[in-house]
Amino acid sequence: MTLPRPFVLINAAMTADGKLDTVARRGAQISSEDDWQRVDALRAASDAIIIGGRTLLDEDPRLLVKSAERRNARAARGLPKNPAKVGIVSLADLRPESRFLSAGPARRILYTTPRTSITQTRRLEEAGAEVYFMGSERVDLTAALRHLHELGFRRVMVEGGGTLIAELLRLGLADELHLYIAPLIFGGADAPTLADAGGMSRDEAVRLKRLGLDLFDDGGIVVRYEIIKSTK
Ligand SMILES: NC(=O)c1ccc[n+]([C@@H]2O[C@H](COP(=O)([O-])OP(=O)(O)OC[C@H]3O[C@@H](n4cnc5c(N)ncnc54)[C@H](OP(=O)(O)O)[C@@H]3O)[C@@H](O)[C@H]2O)c1
Repeated sequence: MTLPRPFVLINAAMTADGKLDTVARRGAQISSEDDWQRVDALRAASDAIIIGGRTLLDEDPRLLVKSAERRNARAARGLPKNPAKVGIVSLADLRPESRFLSAGPARRILYTTPRTSITQTRRLEEAGAEVYFMGSERVDLTAALRHLHELGFRRVMVEGGGTLIAELLRLGLADELHLYIAPLIFGGADAPTLADAGGMSRDEAVRLKRLGLDLFDDGGIVVRYEIIKSTK
């Protein structure tokens, strides 16, 4: 029997050649202003926003709802102004003054492993983070999602990067994929893509059912997919 988990929406912005960033991996801008409005609305509709360890440590995003109107609408529904921020990070060596920890108001949750020292854990907790140990070398994603459900989260949004997305897809732990495809080409064999890590065989390929398609005036395309559960 599979234990309950939240509904998981993966959202990413990628170039027409499938890149999530340039080879520099410094968080190159891909989303247009219109796309940021779309992302902001998705964030406001989520209980939590989840990112992988590399994105957390290298990009240190704020992960807040930018629109005051959307934040107030959440508050009017009795929800916290911002969804919780969740980091999946094997070695949580982020600085207490990092944007992930300091920008708010928002609940901050870190799933990590014993690779994070007790001293660092105390430092993170003093900075207001909840730190949970799940897994040995890497975070146990099934356990982390189950725990988020126990915490009352019912709808979560994953904002990358490609290694975390690949693992969630491989484990069948995601329900929908929303993609903004920008009219851009970054190139580069080593540039991060939507689903990195080891890759799948043709038989293991994740199958998608298109739910919708929007053409943006900026030349971008938004595709929404349902992720078909593997019967294997
Ligand atoms: N365009 C977009 O929408 C978008 C969004 C987000 C990020 N990005 C870009 O993506 C790049 C970062 O992506 P990334 O693939 O390098 O890293 P990532 O997916 O952000 O993080 C992956 C890291 O998370 C840790 N982790 C812990 N438990 C894990 C598990 N069970 N499964 C997978 N990862 C686990 C691992 O760290 P250890 O190896 O230390 O164990 C792993 O290397 C950056 O260039 C960033 O700018 C783009």
